[in-house]
Amino acid sequence: MTPAGEPVVDVLISEDAIAERVTGLAKDIARSESEDLLIVVILKGSFVFAADLVRALDRAGARPQVDFMTLSSYGEGMRSTGTVTLSRDISEDVTGRHVLIVDDILESGRTLLFARDLLSERGAESVKTCLLLDKVSKRQAPIEADFIGFEIGDQFVVGYGLDLAHHYRGLPYIGVVRDG
Ligand code: IMP
Ligand code: MG
Repeated sequence: MTPAGEPVVDVLISEDAIAERVTGLAKDIARSESEDLLIVVILKGSFVFAADLVRALDRAGARPQVDFMTLSSYGEGMRSTGTVTLSRDISEDVTGRHVLIVDDILESGRTLLFARDLLSERGAESVKTCLLLDKVSKRQAPIEADFIGFEIGDQFVVGYGLDLAHHYRGLPYIGVVRDG
């Protein structure tokens, strides 16, 4: 039973559906991308997705290198501030590398555009992008992802790494918060 007033999280995408889609994404990536791939994981929201994706890639026969970059645009709320801040950089040199950016969700597109431009400007040979979720109707920047897990509507989602003010990242499914 839920105490009155405590938020309820409705399941939008189940654990099983996520696992099946991640396997599919990994097969697509292993088939079409360079064997000498550097994955750049955009923290914090994509840490769970990336952990599953790199293991699915290994099962699909791909053994990428992995590095991490922390970007933020949301602060504590449910709405983006509109400014992307780089708070932790990768340690690898991307010059001449085939890079795959992995992020949790594409909304306005500003975060992905920022990351892609930064890595291209540093001399990456190619920069592709893999997003677990795509809120297609919210796009403002001119960018689309190369690999997409699921398209979703204009809803604020949590779980599987995605947070609301740093809560809910450990939920094994993707859900929508509603007031209980
Ligand atoms: P964009 O820069 O507007 O495309 O926003 C992308 C970033 O905003 C993602 O990497 C997430 O960190 C965050 N974000 C966007 N929508 C949601 C959501 O529904 N739940 C949690 N985080 C979100
Ligand atoms: Mg993010």
